[in-house]
Amino acid sequence: MAQQLQAVVWTGTGVRVIDQTRLPGQLVYLDIDTVDELVAAIRRLSVRGAPALGVAGALGVVVAMRQADREGWSAGELARAIDRLRGARPTAVNLAWAVDQVAPLMPDGAAVLAAALRIQEQDAAANRAIGRLGADWLQARLRRPALRVLTHCNAGALATSAWGTALGIVRELHERTVLEVVYVDETRPLLQGARLTAWELAQAGIPHLVQVDAAAAGTVVGGLVDVAIVGADRVAANGDIANKVGTLGIALACQYAQVPFLVAAPESTVDLGTASGASIRIEMRDDEEVLVVAGQRSAPAESRAHNPAFDITPARLVTALVTEQRVLAIAAGQVPAGTNTR
Ligand code: MRU
Repeated sequence: MAQQLQAVVWTGTGVRVIDQTRLPGQLVYLDIDTVDELVAAIRRLSVRGAPALGVAGALGVVVAMRQADREGWSAGELARAIDRLRGARPTAVNLAWAVDQVAPLMPDGAAVLAAALRIQEQDAAANRAIGRLGADWLQARLRRPALRVLTHCNAGALATSAWGTALGIVRELHERTVLEVVYVDETRPLLQGARLTAWELAQAGIPHLVQVDAAAAGTVVGGLVDVAIVGADRVAANGDIANKVGTLGIALACQYAQVPFLVAAPESTVDLGTASGASIRIEMRDDEEVLVVAGQRSAPAESRAHNPAFDITPARLVTALVTEQRVLAIAAGQVPAGTNTR
């Protein structure tokens, strides 16, 4: 299937990203050639999703080197700028991982750029492999002629380098004509599901229903879906998963209803340096994201918010992890540790 959408591209002079805060209303691109602009774009989620953050981070090292040349930075200033980029968001491991892959190649700018573009190409290839492996796994296990899938947040083209991880499987099922419908959680507070996933599915002509996050447990337990498929921001060595807040509730509902809970992520999201979910840092975000709805304050002025961007799903709730290399039956004890090669 042709997939034109590119969340992040190198223009020759800087990074161009789709401003995901403007979707679905407007498809607007941002041209970025300073580290400050890139860090701000990452923090406000103009560019987001673990693999896309990795590509933006790797290309961001090139941006930093070019800015250092232009503005006569010292080596210390360049190192501090790259550190800020590396830590712009803490939970998705791909950002720090990709910066760490390319930064040691400095000061050879051409080598850094080539390595960053290689990360992007490998991620695009990983998307396609994940789609195939995930769809094969589902078709082998599930006996329905057409599958009903639930997904949360956005793990599609906008979050990756090609057609997505969780949505890569969905798109593959659709191409194989074995997809009935996708239930899309709207994904409060920033609505990545309603704004981004639904937009991608609409563009691809894939039948979908947007539901409030609070409907997800009832949809699963009520027998309306055959599988839940989500992405991941980090997979710990023991198989625990960090993903968008709300993922844990879906996994619990799936366990109760005996519905498979599938996590789709490239090997670059597997972090063997993190033993378990307990040591994953969860990004806490501004109160305003929760307390202001469509420009109007929704809670009393005195109220503060609890706004974790992610939650941890324990390994025992993860039926399987699909990467570009393998399908691990995590809940059955096949954990990533020991076999990851990155
Ligand atoms: O805060 P976001 O929108 O960056 O969160 C994104 C997610 O939680 C995705 O599910 C995850 O990064 C995987 S994207 C392939």
